[in-house]
Amino acid sequence: MRHLLDTQTLAREDALRILDVAEDMADTQRREIKKLPTLRGKTVVNLFFEDSTRTRISFEAAAKRLSADVINFSAKGSSVSKGESLQDTAQTLQAMGADAVVIRHGASGAPRTLATSGWISAGVVNAGDGTHEHPTQALLDAFTIRKRRFGDDSRGRDLAGVKVTIVGDVLHSRVARSNVWLLTALGAEVTLVAPPTLVPQDVTGWPVEVLYDLDDAIAAGPDALMMLRIQLERMNAAYFPTEREYSRRWGLDARRLDALGVDSIVMHPGPMNRGLEISAEAADSPRSTVLEQVTNGVSVRMAALYLLLAGADAPTTETTAPAGTAKENTR
Ligand code: NCD
Repeated sequence: MRHLLDTQTLAREDALRILDVAEDMADTQRREIKKLPTLRGKTVVNLFFEDSTRTRISFEAAAKRLSADVINFSAKGSSVSKGESLQDTAQTLQAMGADAVVIRHGASGAPRTLATSGWISAGVVNAGDGTHEHPTQALLDAFTIRKRRFGDDSRGRDLAGVKVTIVGDVLHSRVARSNVWLLTALGAEVTLVAPPTLVPQDVTGWPVEVLYDLDDAIAAGPDALMMLRIQLERMNAAYFPTEREYSRRWGLDARRLDALGVDSIVMHPGPMNRGLEISAEAADSPRSTVLEQVTNGVSVRMAALYLLLAGADAPTTETTAPAGTAKENTR
């Protein structure tokens, strides 16, 4: 794997490989000493043109736990605010010897431009581009669903027959797009629920069912209900009458939480608008995986960086991959 740009073109086997290596990484993260020497001497640059808390910190933790050197670059306070182009920024990073560039950008397609431009030789990881994709978020979501379902027996399994319902601001959500491609590639059945104004026009070409009524969707018995943040910062028009009306019709409140099956889980990529798309009861309930998603995000990003940077000679099996290098760690 040279780059991780999207899940739409990610092969199913590559996705499963990332999830399985992430299982190995998660095992190492339960040890007292979490740091592995695997990427010693490599440099990972976090290039963030859009605000982020958990994704940037998660990539930083992942790179550091693999012993890579990490450079955090955020556009605010940098020469980007003086008008420097993506090309000049990228070439500067190349000159400093970056081995991997993790990029978040407001423009859909920026990571692919970076990967294919010839400006840099580093591996590129998309950490969210505009409303296009956010592949590591979808991978950590798939990991979380698989882990809740199969526990320690997750390795090698796909999500055949698992019903996932994604609710809310699908129109502006790169998380929804990445999840649609990845989860369906892994065999899950995906349903989208949103007000008609927040359903993208090209949805007819997606392998999903679209519903407009959340109660109907809950009655169908989803295994996972993924609530999306209402992305007010990307809204330039009135997509729904009022916030109160939105939460009444499409918010996960206590009543709807009770109507979910006993084993179904509630997911949210964060940051949450508590009281808008998700109530405090739902966010803090035992069936909420919000914090597990954050924990799993580090393991999944460790796996992605490892597979990108350890390259063709990255060992494939559970015993030779991180577990083997971890032994060195305890000497
Ligand atoms: C998501 C994002 O930035 O796309 N957040 C995240 O990465 N955890 C979702 C969102 O901002 O709503």
